[in-house]
Amino acid sequence: MVYAMRFLIFILLCILMSPLLIFGLIYYTLRIRRICVRHNISGTANEPYASRLMMHIAGARQDYAAYKIAGHLPSFDKLSKFLLIEILGFASKLSGYKGSFFAYPGQRPSTLMSMMSHRTDFFDRSIKESLTRTDNPAVQFVVLGAGYDTRCYDLSEVVDIQCFEVDMPPTLNSKIGALKSAGVPHDHVTFVETDFNQETWMEALLASGFDPNLTTYVLWEGVTMYLVEGAIRDTLNLVSSLPKGSTVGVDFFSADLVYGNPPYARISKAMHKSIKYYSEEIQFGVATAKTLSEGIEKLAGDSGLTLSRFEHVGSEEDKLPPWYFFAQIDNI
Ligand SMILES: C[S@@+](CC[C@H](N)C(=O)[O-])C[C@H]1O[C@@H](n2cnc3c(N)ncnc32)[C@H](O)[C@@H]1O
Repeated sequence: MVYAMRFLIFILLCILMSPLLIFGLIYYTLRIRRICVRHNISGTANEPYASRLMMHIAGARQDYAAYKIAGHLPSFDKLSKFLLIEILGFASKLSGYKGSFFAYPGQRPSTLMSMMSHRTDFFDRSIKESLTRTDNPAVQFVVLGAGYDTRCYDLSEVVDIQCFEVDMPPTLNSKIGALKSAGVPHDHVTFVETDFNQETWMEALLASGFDPNLTTYVLWEGVTMYLVEGAIRDTLNLVSSLPKGSTVGVDFFSADLVYGNPPYARISKAMHKSIKYYSEEIQFGVATAKTLSEGIEKLAGDSGLTLSRFEHVGSEEDKLPPWYFFAQIDNI
């Protein structure tokens, strides 16, 4: 009852402020096309970033660095930050509504609306456990396809750790610019330029001071779907060359979703069409085989790694069976 009231007030506030929200949405999408796409800056990097920003502004999950750099990014300049983030945050705070999109850690089974909360919570738990355990904790943290992920900046309050953020140069440079102009300290972070489809990130990392003899957590969130299978296998092989206790946290779409097999034909078509807006392409999905986790177990096993944690969005009873998987893969 209280939840329904809060939701109603939230919707009413959004309707009242809809001219500003609609203008903000148009302005934001134009910036994606005119600035991000034109300069090869990842547009899709804004989707998970915006979700974490929403969770922060609703008071569900703290992410001060994400909030600070908003207003300094190619997509979220000061105007789009105000028109979208601040206004939605105001509506959420005034109504007390923190459902679905704003929730953290969010409901289980998760849904299409709460999948980003589930994903964020899965990786937060996995990272925290690996970095803070007493026995052989990870002492290096690598974010592959970092986009606008801000864990390196919020982490530094919990543990003293050397961080590496790896991405393609245009996206990386837009982030460095935002960190500088927002005044977010980033001396503990080494930025490494690479293209996973062209070269190994390990070579680029080694040239930047990465120590392959230290136990490492590799966060590879929201990236595998944009790569070819060879690049994914190469990355897993590299993780298996790191010391025992090293981990990769990674998410996969299902092969059925990516290749449009029934019953995913319609949603697959819609997904590929929407990603084209960003001039990016979804390329890889993991085969699920008999059980949902079997394909990932096999992929990890082929590189001598072990699937230690596995969760998925949705429930096996849903009309569309789960198609989005979160995995912690360890070098045991
Ligand atoms: C959807 S974003 C996810 C960003 C971030 N991990 C997060 O969860 O917020 C995908 C990121 O992967 C990067 N990426 C995609 N293909 C890549 C490639 N071939 N080489 C390096 N980075 C790549 C993009 O630039 C983008 O920043």
